[in-house]
Amino acid sequence: MPDPRLSADAAGAPAGPPARSGEPTTPTRLWGGRFSGGPAEALARLSVSVQFDWRLAPYDLAASRAHARVLNRAGLLDSGELGRMLAALDDLEAACAAGEFRPTIEDEDVHTALERGLLERLGTLGGKLRAGRSRNDQVATDLRLYLRDHARGVAARIVELADALTDQAERLHGVPAPGMTHLQHAQPILFSHQLLAHVQAFARDLDRLADWDRRTAISPLGAGALAGSSLPLDPELVAKELGFDAAAANSIDAVSDRDFAAEFLFIAALTGVHLSRLGEEIVLWTSQEFGWVELDDAYATGSSIMPQKKNPDIGELARGKSGRLIGHLTGLLATLKGLPLAYDRDLQEDKEPVFDAVDTLELVLPAVAGLISTMNVRTEVLEAAAPLGYSLATDIAEWLVRQGVPFREAHEIVGATVARCAAKGCELDDLSDAELAEVSPRLTPEVRAILSVTGALAARTTRGSTGPDAVAAQLADVRTALDGRRSWAAQQVVPR
Ligand code: ARG
Repeated sequence: MPDPRLSADAAGAPAGPPARSGEPTTPTRLWGGRFSGGPAEALARLSVSVQFDWRLAPYDLAASRAHARVLNRAGLLDSGELGRMLAALDDLEAACAAGEFRPTIEDEDVHTALERGLLERLGTLGGKLRAGRSRNDQVATDLRLYLRDHARGVAARIVELADALTDQAERLHGVPAPGMTHLQHAQPILFSHQLLAHVQAFARDLDRLADWDRRTAISPLGAGALAGSSLPLDPELVAKELGFDAAAANSIDAVSDRDFAAEFLFIAALTGVHLSRLGEEIVLWTSQEFGWVELDDAYATGSSIMPQKKNPDIGELARGKSGRLIGHLTGLLATLKGLPLAYDRDLQEDKEPVFDAVDTLELVLPAVAGLISTMNVRTEVLEAAAPLGYSLATDIAEWLVRQGVPFREAHEIVGATVARCAAKGCELDDLSDAELAEVSPRLTPEVRAILSVTGALAARTTRGSTGPDAVAAQLADVRTALDGRRSWAAQQVVPR
């Protein structure tokens, strides 16, 4: 029989030797009173989650401290026992942090491993902590604590990316660029306006995280397995101690609800989609055909065979990794669909997608932020490209409207002007006064005033448009909004 502890390592358990390696260990099983023998190896291997749920250990310990205090208030732990219990939990936490205490495959899950650690330190007193508590309310609590904590870390990384985009927008303010629809030149824009459009998307992701957090700040602890407890516990007090707003209103919902995980995965997936769309633009902007942006060497990669290559791998990985984020969301939704209330073991499948979503965002966001803040934007290329492709055509039409021409007619006139340019192989402002008049007597020489990118941009003054003043106002608003989210991300909600 293979050493199950080795299998744990192979399955990705925290590296390093298992606790007390070499000595024979008696597995700490949290169940088994009615069982005549140990579990089959195939069951144990299927069932074990400690190789991935070990990262919940600090949160499980925080919840244990709160639970110990409540047992004390309920008269189920005297003050001497509480003191020893809290000291042991602190010692265990330090041992976990130092890597001196490690889970083994025989621990089944993080809760089992930590109970073993407590029993090693306290003997039979360690067995008192489980009163009034089940792994069902424990794991739901731990995951909420973990996510509320890590959502703030993810938010901090999103703010850094949004800052990088906003800084570039400020630096490049006033630089015109081609604005596109259907990836064709459409109308001239300010390049800063395009960068801030991406910031708006990330700002919504930040809003979503803060909004999600309000619904997630509910404590399942006290729900027990599913029905609450007959012991005089105080779920509201535990909730407050763990930084939650309130205890769950329904113990069945408390242990079976994973909306918070699914919602988090939606936010992660949508953030991934936003990163992907930005990544796609980076790939385009850095192509020979566009030539808008040159990446800093530190944020580009080379080719093993083509020495001249400088590749935008970060943009591509941002685009590629959005696929796994979307997959985690759809995977968890499929797991949840059809589960009868209350707890089912299927729910153990909630953790890996959530952990990987956090890891993925924490990996991608800093790389994209670094790329954005160091990229060199070729402003002369953008500026030269801005009027190409008859991108001022709409401005001529709107100029005609201001002269009293119905828009429908103006559209026809400008269409004919563009056709004339296309036949001649020139841009709109290359046509002579006579040629313009030939297309329509309405096209008097005064039209030349708006036949410039600068003129077209300056005319766009309404809120949210691409004119320099409107974009400057947007920049200021974005800075204020990001400052608000920065302080949200810095909150320490989970007690340590
Ligand atoms: N490892 C389990 C999970 O992640 C913990 C809860 C187990 N509960 C139980 N009744 N078997 O969901």
